[in-house]
Amino acid sequence: MKIGELIIVLDFGSQYSNIIVRRIRHLGVHTILCSHNISIYNILSKKPKGIILSGGPFSVYNNNAPLIYKNILELNIPILGICYGMQLISFLFGGKIESSKNKEYGKSYLKIIDEKNPLFLGIPKKSIIVWMSHSDETKEISEEFKVIGKTTSCSIAAFCHKKKNIYALQFHPEVSHTEFGMLIIKNFILKICKCNANFKLKNIIKKSIDNITKIVSKKKVILGISGGLDSFVAASLIYKAIGDSLHCIFVNNGLLLEEEEKSIDKICSIVKFPINIINAKNQFLSKLTGIIDPEKKRKIIGEEFIKIFEKESKKIKNVEFLAQGTIYSDVIESSKDSSKLSVNPIKSHHNVGGLPKTINLKLLEPLKKFFKDEVIEIGYILGLPKYLLYKHPFPGPGISIRIIGEINEKKISILRKAENILFQELNNYKLYTKLNQAFIILLPIKSVGIMGDKRSYEYTAILRSINTKDFMTATFSNLSYEFLEKVSNRIINEVDGINRMLYDISSKPPSTIEWE
Ligand code: XMP
Repeated sequence: MKIGELIIVLDFGSQYSNIIVRRIRHLGVHTILCSHNISIYNILSKKPKGIILSGGPFSVYNNNAPLIYKNILELNIPILGICYGMQLISFLFGGKIESSKNKEYGKSYLKIIDEKNPLFLGIPKKSIIVWMSHSDETKEISEEFKVIGKTTSCSIAAFCHKKKNIYALQFHPEVSHTEFGMLIIKNFILKICKCNANFKLKNIIKKSIDNITKIVSKKKVILGISGGLDSFVAASLIYKAIGDSLHCIFVNNGLLLEEEEKSIDKICSIVKFPINIINAKNQFLSKLTGIIDPEKKRKIIGEEFIKIFEKESKKIKNVEFLAQGTIYSDVIESSKDSSKLSVNPIKSHHNVGGLPKTINLKLLEPLKKFFKDEVIEIGYILGLPKYLLYKHPFPGPGISIRIIGEINEKKISILRKAENILFQELNNYKLYTKLNQAFIILLPIKSVGIMGDKRSYEYTAILRSINTKDFMTATFSNLSYEFLEKVSNRIINEVDGINRMLYDISSKPPSTIEWE
């Protein structure tokens, strides 16, 4: 799908790369994150109006440091290097980088030297708080460049080319703690790259529908509805494009909460298209028996889903596509590319990294480029019911990734009962829509308790509740002790099998939202 002007962020592995993307999208400019090793031809084919080089955990002198060809910087496309991106620019133009004695993490004060520089337009002060996170720093820059900002411990904290649109910052303007950071990004995007802020979801929906009609043509599409927002938004877009050529399937994998089962009933009662419900509980549970490793669970689930979709597609004539409600964060967190340069993917989301290597259907994923809050907005524009827009996400692998370790029917039943209580209390306390996701995790750990004068030896459960915009970062919810006590008491008293409750107070990062 082509969506107007584009900014490319080249990813060198910074934890903030996605935040840069989000900040620019919020300005109304389409932006994508690409691996740093994208070819120059691929960049040119996308016709970007600007390129940003992200930060990253490397030193340009490391043997395995991710580099790019200098000619990418000479395409006459405006460039902004941030942190590692800055060091890379100085390195490629013959500057000198050194490991700094005073490593800077956190708050610093930037003294703006060139107040008239287009990057700093509108900043009313000469000294602003900026957020640093680096151990190497630029010590010398080539004569083509000039210094435009410094901090007390970093004499070249910002520089730009004297003639070309190449800019570099040692600090992170994308981090909310950097004063006027958004203005600096805005200046680069709107003033230097001269983008028109026309990345409006309303326009994009129309383009997306037209595009689906074109791609699918006279073929048919099979789509896995999950009961959640993403797949329903995807189905609604595709239905608008191809009408009855869309065939929706809901697979009950036996790993659902009661609320999820109710949600699918509700959805079936309001949609214009039929949804074929398939009971595959035994198929999934038998495959998961004895499996402890979270990634194995995810891969098995991804494979079983595909087997069912392939089998069902054979019953309908002319099916060529499998549609999914995959969104941008699923792709980023499942992708080896984005988990950068060194390590394994964070998690194989069942619909991305969990897919088998070969599938006989072509994937159709109209939401693949959108963050969760954008998907909610698309759902709103399409007129989807409010309860769906604010429904907490429920992962495709279901409670198999909330039962830590091996799953079995007994544990599933325990967790479902505990979840029902949580759901009731969230509603009683009118908290459901104030939180973005709340759920229970069952640990494989038993502890001793005392119930009605008798010793108990039962499982421990965890309450997890988070607040977030896009599920890429999240904080734990500030729930009252009264609420925590109520949920904890009810679960321990009413659910056989749990005798201890804990509250998870970790944020993402470093923890993830689901436990597996
Ligand atoms: P994590 O645990 O990665 O979760 O911080 C981020 C969001 O994604 C959901 N999630 C998934 N959704 N298939 C899905 O459809 C998956 O495999 C999957 N894994 C995690 C999770 O519930 C949270 O909202």
